[in-house]
Amino acid sequence: RPRVFSGIQPTADSFHLGNYLGALRHWVALQDSHDAFYCVVDLHAITAGHDPKVLKRRSRVAAAQLFALGLDPERSTLFVQSQVPEHPQLAWVLGCITGFGEAGRMTQFKDKSQKQGSERASVGLFTYPILQAADILLYQANAVPVGEDQRQHLELSRDLAQRFNSLFGRTFTVPAPHIVKDTAKITDLQDPTAKMSKSSSSPAGIIDLLEDPARSAKKIRSAVTDTGREIVFDAEGKPGISNLLTIYSALSGRGIDDLVAAYDGKGYGDLKKDLAEVVREFVTPIQERTNGYLNDPAQLDKLLAQGAEKARVVAAATLRDAYERVGFFPPV
Ligand code: TYM
Repeated sequence: RPRVFSGIQPTADSFHLGNYLGALRHWVALQDSHDAFYCVVDLHAITAGHDPKVLKRRSRVAAAQLFALGLDPERSTLFVQSQVPEHPQLAWVLGCITGFGEAGRMTQFKDKSQKQGSERASVGLFTYPILQAADILLYQANAVPVGEDQRQHLELSRDLAQRFNSLFGRTFTVPAPHIVKDTAKITDLQDPTAKMSKSSSSPAGIIDLLEDPARSAKKIRSAVTDTGREIVFDAEGKPGISNLLTIYSALSGRGIDDLVAAYDGKGYGDLKKDLAEVVREFVTPIQERTNGYLNDPAQLDKLLAQGAEKARVVAAATLRDAYERVGFFPPV
C-alpha cells in the first residue's frame, strides 16, 4: 500500500472549514487506500510565540477533533510530533543541504516575517519548511494531502528528497502533493478573495468546527456576497457566492450544477439559510464526539502515545539510513 503523510498545527481552539474541506476530509478518505500517518505538529506551532498550557490543550483538542472526524486508530497512525524526536533530528540534516536563499523564498515565511518584523520573527519560522520536509520524508510518504497554500512547501520537500538522494544515495521517496482543486482554497466569508485562515481572517470570516452552529449561521448570513442576485458558480466574477456553493457542495455531497439548478429563481438568502442548516447537521455529531474524547484525556493521551510508538518505528528506520548515508555513527 502507498504511504500518505500529513500534518496540522494546533494553533487554534478549533479547526475551521478550510482545514476540513482542503485537507482533513482527504486524510479520512485516504485511510482506506493508504498506509496513513497523520501528525499534530506542535513543534511547528511554537515558531511565532506561544503559551505552554494553551499549546498542550490545543494539541489535545486537535487530536480529539481528528478522531471525531473519522481517523480510526486501527487504520491510521495519529501522533503528536513532539513525541517523535526523529523529526527535528532529520530536520537538522536537511537544513544543511538547504540554501539560505532557497528558504528565504518561501512565501509564507516572507509574509509572516514581514508582518512580525525581522527582529521579532524567529529563526524557527525561517526553518519551518525544512522541519515540514523532515516530517514527510521520515515516513517515505508517496502522497501528502494538503490545501493549495502548502504547495510551495511541498515543492521544497520534493527538492530536498531529490537532492539528498543524489548527494548521498537513494534514501527518500519523493512525495507528491495531493491537492484536490475544488476545495483547495476555501475563502474568508468576509473577504472572498483571501483564504480562510486562523491567522489572518477576522472571526466573522471563519467557520470553526467547534463553534455554536447558531454563530456559524449568523456568519453565513452576513457573508459578503456579490452584486446581482443570480446564484451561479463563477469563481472570478462572483467569488463570494461561489465559495458558499463550494462549501455547500462539499458538505452535502451534491454537485455544484445540481445546487445551481435547485436554486434557480431563489435568492442569496435562501442559499445561506440552507447552507447554515447543512453546516449545523455536519458539525453537531463532530462536536459531540470531540467532547467525548476530551472528557477522557488519559485515554486520549494513551491513543496518542500508541500512535507515536508506531510512528517511531518507521521514523527511526529512516533516520538510521539517513545518518548512515551522511557518515554519522550508528545509534547505540
Ligand atoms: P495548517 O495547520 O495551517 O493547515 C492544515 C491544513 O489545512 C489546509 N488549509 C486549507 N485548505 C483549504 N482552504 C483553506 N482556507 C485552508 N486553510 C488551511 C492547509 O493547506 C493544510 O493542509 N505547514 C502545515 C502543517 C505541516 C504539514 C507537515 C503539512 C507541518 N508538517 C507535513 C503536510 C505535511 C500547515 O501550517 O498547515
